[in-house]
Amino acid sequence: MILLSQTSPLQAISNHLFPGIELWIKRDDLLHPSVSGNKFRKLKYLLQDLAPDTRLISMGGPWSNHLHALAHAAHLTGLPCSGLVRGLRNPAAALTPTLQDCAKLGMQLHFVSRDTYRQLRLQPQFWQTQIEVDPQHSLWIPEGGMSRDALRGVVELIDELSFLPDTLITACGTGTTLAGLAAGMRGHGRVLGISAVQNADFLSAQVSSLLQQAGYPAWNNIEIKTEFDHGGFGKVSPALRDFCLRFESDYHIKIEPVYTGKMLYAVHQLACSNFFQPGERVIVVHTGGLQGKRGYPEFTKQ
Ligand SMILES: Cc1ncc(COP(=O)(O)O)c(C=O)c1O
Repeated sequence: MILLSQTSPLQAISNHLFPGIELWIKRDDLLHPSVSGNKFRKLKYLLQDLAPDTRLISMGGPWSNHLHALAHAAHLTGLPCSGLVRGLRNPAAALTPTLQDCAKLGMQLHFVSRDTYRQLRLQPQFWQTQIEVDPQHSLWIPEGGMSRDALRGVVELIDELSFLPDTLITACGTGTTLAGLAAGMRGHGRVLGISAVQNADFLSAQVSSLLQQAGYPAWNNIEIKTEFDHGGFGKVSPALRDFCLRFESDYHIKIEPVYTGKMLYAVHQLACSNFFQPGERVIVVHTGGLQGKRGYPEFTKQ
């Protein structure tokens, strides 16, 4: 089973919100019509060569881009799939639009407590205590698609570039995309991650471990900024909200505030504080995930 290969455009954009640098945006939001952004790259090789009865099982929150993309990928490849969803559910409450889509696409949803969810993160086999399926015919995919096979798909983003930038920037959740970009850059320039999650000191070790597991060198051109979380994962400060709305209106590119919006706002702030060399050539990655924006009515009302 394979997701068809695709490439995404590299778009030059004006630097009026990002003074002093030359800027391009890698439009991974346009990579695939339904398996959005970095999710396509992370899942591509994981799903290759699986037996047709393999059940894909993963975990995510009620607005998870990863579960949403996985449900689409499973649907496209004809594989059965299950999602372990963070938070026990009041049966009378409506599903989020994300989970409604997942269910429509055939994903079986299992709601787990927050404690169980934490265990799923910590113990690789713990999912087997939560769901009755044959482990021999199942593929467990950790949160966010974090796995060594995911890096190989992300490396292909670099192969698509017509030039290597001085700095390449992505938003980080698990750090898998950042690790894949660093693997693809092979030590060239600087690879910068902007954490979308709070208390992200773990990210640096996680990125190194992913590179090692996947057999790539321990590149030392990786930097991670942890101070642009705006109060936590999914939190949107008024300044971030205003910036995202301004960016969308000036550039005519849709973004969401959880990952790409936070990353672009950080790049804006870094450019305004002379973090970059004058004239530095910077590529930012639009990692997609626009479906998650439905959780933020102030962004969908426009
Ligand atoms: C839209 C979007 N951008 C960026 C990320 C962060 O990716 P990673 O977990 O590989 O760091 C995610 C989460 O997977 C995401 O959904």
